Amino acid sequence: MSLLIIGGTGTLGRQVVLQALTKGYQVRCMVRNFRKASFLKEWGVELVYGDLTRPETIPPCLKGITAVIDASTSRANELDSLKNVDWVGKSCLIEAVEAASIKRFIFFSAQNVEQFNNIPLMRLKYGIETKLKQSKIPYTIFRLTGFYQGLIEQYAIPILENLPIWVTNENTNISYMDTQDIAKFCIRSLQIPQTVNQVFFLSGLKGWVSSEIISLCEQLAGQEAKVQRVPLGILKFVSNFFGFFEWGQNISDRLAFAEILSMENNFSKSTFELYKTFKIDPSEIIQLDDYFLEYFIRLLKRLRDINFEDVQKQKNLVI
Ligand SMILES: NC(=O)c1ccc[n+]([C@@H]2O[C@H](COP(=O)([O-])OP(=O)(O)OC[C@H]3O[C@@H](n4cnc5c(N)ncnc54)[C@H](OP(=O)(O)O)[C@@H]3O)[C@@H](O)[C@H]2O)c1
Repeated sequence: MSLLIIGGTGTLGRQVVLQALTKGYQVRCMVRNFRKASFLKEWGVELVYGDLTRPETIPPCLKGITAVIDASTSRANELDSLKNVDWVGKSCLIEAVEAASIKRFIFFSAQNVEQFNNIPLMRLKYGIETKLKQSKIPYTIFRLTGFYQGLIEQYAIPILENLPIWVTNENTNISYMDTQDIAKFCIRSLQIPQTVNQVFFLSGLKGWVSSEIISLCEQLAGQEAKVQRVPLGILKFVSNFFGFFEWGQNISDRLAFAEILSMENNFSKSTFELYKTFKIDPSEIIQLDDYFLEYFIRLLKRLRDINFEDVQKQKNLVI
């Protein structure tokens, strides 16, 4: 089976690529910038040029492809790209995929999208879900929660750099996941016929409130966090007022994202069912404490290495 992965340079996309290669799939990635994607080529991926905002570039990428995995989304730093990528681009992609009679299309959406029509990205994701369901393409939709990877920037780095961490005053409980594990579910779905034309709510096994994540980082960093609280009411007002939303774009948007992900906390029963369907043993799933522990160990090792190099340089100067 040959896969086309879109968004292979992204946080989740690169993990999907790794999983697919590990499982022996032939992988092609549609990329906008060959230099930026060169690491994928080193992994053994075939790179083809394509840009969702240039629909004519899409059909050539689909030649000889069995399944498409779309892990792309607009980059927050690219002005005006939200609608062009997440709506127009993806709509063109769906049309091209249908015309090419692709056997499976995997799309990543977010938890509770239908309840946040006032947030553009959520509205667009829901619209694409609907388009897919109305198409003849055999699809699988994963509605995702937050990624562990995003928590480094939100909690670990501010603590290490003695910067404030913004949280709401609500105890929002979010079952974050490692993108490696999301990728596992995604690639596994290709081999499970029951996952065709289904929507799965993917989330981790344990919910975390921000105070728990902060304590964990404080322990590992050996430093106290500077916590700033924003009442949820003010946050809602700000989000509604600006009507704009991008992952991790700024503090108010990030906190609005926390609200989206925390709307339903009754994950546990359905989550265990889901792990059964995908034949994934919950004990294989990377826990947030282990993820952070590994991050801090790697970071401390790097700091020690830099320190060692500085001492060596100073010694050489003295000689
Ligand atoms: N991050 C989260 O917490 C979260 C939560 C729920 C759902 N999701 C969803 O999960 C998926 C992956 O998210 P992520 O955080 O891994 O994304 P990401 O790191 O921001 O990566 C975005 C990817 O999309 C590509 N891309 C952007 N514009 C493109 C275009 N015009 N044509 C082709 N490719 C384009 C980027 O390529 P370049 O390298 O060229 O920029 C990059 O590979 C998305 O659908 C996202 O909405 C994310």
